[in-house]
Amino acid sequence: MTHVTARHFPAGFLWGTATAAHQVEGNNRNNQWWAWEQIPGHIHQNQRSGLACNWWTPGGAEADLDRAQALGQNAHRLSVEWSRLEPSAGVFDPAAFARYREILTALRARGLSAMVTLHHFTNPLWFEAQGAWLNPRSVALFQRFVERVAGELGDLVDLWCTINEPNVVATLGYLVGEFPPGQRSPLAPFRVTRNLLLAHAAAYHAIHRQDSQAQVGLALQLRPFVPARPTARLDRWVARMQDYLFNQSLLTAIRDGVLRPPLGLGETVPALVDSSDFLGINFYTRELVHFDLRVPGDLFGRRSFSPTGEMSDLTSSGAPYSECVPDSLEQLLRQLTPCGKPIYITECGLPDADDNQRPRFLITHLAAVQRAIQAGAPVEGFFHWTLVDNFEWAEGWHLRFGLIELDTATQARQPRASAQTYADICRTNAITPAVVQRDAPEVFRQTFGEA
Ligand code: BGC
Repeated sequence: MTHVTARHFPAGFLWGTATAAHQVEGNNRNNQWWAWEQIPGHIHQNQRSGLACNWWTPGGAEADLDRAQALGQNAHRLSVEWSRLEPSAGVFDPAAFARYREILTALRARGLSAMVTLHHFTNPLWFEAQGAWLNPRSVALFQRFVERVAGELGDLVDLWCTINEPNVVATLGYLVGEFPPGQRSPLAPFRVTRNLLLAHAAAYHAIHRQDSQAQVGLALQLRPFVPARPTARLDRWVARMQDYLFNQSLLTAIRDGVLRPPLGLGETVPALVDSSDFLGINFYTRELVHFDLRVPGDLFGRRSFSPTGEMSDLTSSGAPYSECVPDSLEQLLRQLTPCGKPIYITECGLPDADDNQRPRFLITHLAAVQRAIQAGAPVEGFFHWTLVDNFEWAEGWHLRFGLIELDTATQARQPRASAQTYADICRTNAITPAVVQRDAPEVFRQTFGEA
């Protein structure tokens, strides 16, 4: 073991965790998610976000940021809640801005670079009532909000992330119906994606008008789609189509500005051209897909997991949440290298309440990131999802993604073993043989090669 060398990350690499306002702040009563949670049947066991991780209470966020700092992190990704900052159309709340200034100042004081997301799944109720992202006016309404936020908070922000996962908002809210507004429509997802992309572009330019040096991107969930039977032509076709609809149509739009069908008719939107200073990638898993005419709601691609693959915890429907596929992450990062933009992994994690997989997950995924960097991928930071267990949307509280366990009844926190794994990697800016030997010896050879 002694002659094996650590796998180092570039100097200045950002190491953090990611959170989202509604999942951690508590009592976000003025958005569409809170309303959705009140209706039985929407959330696993009718659970609610409630107090969440109690971040809105003065001192609440700060106490967790102390923990992030103590775990050797140097960055944090959070989101601001639109419904707090603009509780009714055109009316902004100075107290909410003041609280965010307090939280962002707390990041600075702890040496944490701030990545701020402007939209992470939640809409103010007034915006929802106007048709949310189906309404073409949504773009201008979002732009007005972003202009205000950039003016009030910009001096405390290092990296801006306009919109979190437009592809997930569209798919889960308008195709699958698991997220509000619970629609199952064949066309609405594309209108929503289009407006979200236009809103991203509007936000990108609004921020740059105020600060030409600002670093602005968005977070896309990128999910490789793999034909379940590589020799079956229809499986290959459905995998290609899903990859195009979920991943490529958005990735190419923010680069060349073209809204290709079904997002548009192939028109170029000048504001969208080169509208990302960095790529934010949320990576969880890949999807194995079988062509199947019986699942039009899944665009004819029946999802499965590889029989031998390693799975994370089960979702409320009893299906595995994800498959552990670090090689897919490496491949994805290599494919994105020619974009020539810095890449941040803006989310990556797995639900694992008993933490028997997370140390290994961290090591194998970070080793994959490091290999991609060595091959030339410009990855500049990694934000683990997440710091403390938080409200997991339709899955309520039973999927636990935190490095730190949360007891929702008492708000008590207990670091999991993986918190130490990640802390050691963050502090040394490397995956060292000692950490792998201690926390996941079974992947030692795979991590360091034949020694
Ligand atoms: C979202 C997070 C969520 C995570 C885990 C991502 O799609 O951005 O808000 O908690 O997945 O499911």
